[in-house]
Amino acid sequence: MLSSLHKSLKHAQRLWRLQAQVPRALRCHAASVSLLDHCLELDYNGTCMHLNYVWLRDHCCSESSFNEKTNQRKLDSASIDLNIRPVSTKLEDGHLYLKWPDDHVTKYALRWLSDNSYETTRNSTVQPRVLWNSHTYNEANPAPSKWDLFMSCDSELKRFLQNYLLYGIAFVQDVPVTVEATEAVTQRVSLIRETTYGRMWCFTSDFSRGDTAYSQLALDRHTDTTYFQEPCGIQVFHCLKHDGTGGRTLLVDGFNAAEKLRQRSPDSFDLLTQVPIKHEYIENTGDHRNQMRGIGPLLEVYSWNKELYMIRYNNYDRSVINTAPHNVVQSWYVAHQELTAEMRCPQNELWVKLHPGTVIFIDNWRVMHGRESFTGLRQLCGCYLTRDDVLSRARSFGLKA
Ligand SMILES: [Fe+2]
Repeated sequence: MLSSLHKSLKHAQRLWRLQAQVPRALRCHAASVSLLDHCLELDYNGTCMHLNYVWLRDHCCSESSFNEKTNQRKLDSASIDLNIRPVSTKLEDGHLYLKWPDDHVTKYALRWLSDNSYETTRNSTVQPRVLWNSHTYNEANPAPSKWDLFMSCDSELKRFLQNYLLYGIAFVQDVPVTVEATEAVTQRVSLIRETTYGRMWCFTSDFSRGDTAYSQLALDRHTDTTYFQEPCGIQVFHCLKHDGTGGRTLLVDGFNAAEKLRQRSPDSFDLLTQVPIKHEYIENTGDHRNQMRGIGPLLEVYSWNKELYMIRYNNYDRSVINTAPHNVVQSWYVAHQELTAEMRCPQNELWVKLHPGTVIFIDNWRVMHGRESFTGLRQLCGCYLTRDDVLSRARSFGLKA
């Protein structure tokens, strides 16, 4: 009796093990899947991916886990058993099915898993770019947009945004020479970011604000609002009037310079991505009282693929360095000078004379701007755009941004 009970128990245990056990490698067309101790191994389209089990449960798109209408997660991720593991797998029609211990089944498109695996993401760029110097930019010669078409035609706006994403600068010509038209052409792209300078700013060399921009002096290459924790994403300039000489605008592709540094001096590049640097704007002019501070490395890269996404470079507004010990500070100055030397190479300088009617959009996280000194009255207006909104607009046109 005992022996037959023992046999039945053994049989049941074996059956249970067989049901729970998943074949080591299930093959479906060009895909195979294995349940390893700590992750699922998926071989698909020539890429071997390792997917964490909690991650897989967390990214379930079933009705109980995800709201398809709002594209938001319903599942409480914090409630997932950290030792969770699927009990069975199935590959069918380009999909992977996982059955979880509570019998819940998750279905994933293999293409989706492939596109979103770490192995794929670490080898792909978030935003494709064309790095340039003055020669290569002039040779590419991206066509500027014209006011009429730009304001009325979505495919022209898309073309403009594509140029902007690739080169970090883009122009609209034939814009009426007013602040109102500049505002309208900007709003065609996205939302204006209001700052201490106002929503739309207008400046001449009248020193009305505590900033060198409000003078006739030359300005070395820099990015703006480095003293914001999140510097403004896009800068818009429109020269409304200039009766005098000089005043050309200088543009330098900061990412091109930084990538040159990465190739030539990888340790210096890495250091500039690591040392947090403060930038400050302290103003006590008239009614203006400002004390702004932004802290971040000069070069910011995504941690998973080391792709550059922001340069924060403004020697005027850089504040005291007290975030690193003296020996690191020495190396930081070496790296800073190497980057600066690259950015000052004459072949990297694109000089343009902004005439009334031409509005320029500059990626303030990538392209430096500056200007030569000038004489006479020079009236400029412009504004900042929020980066998130511009990129969102570009993505809504199907562009990779
Ligand atoms: Fe500036």
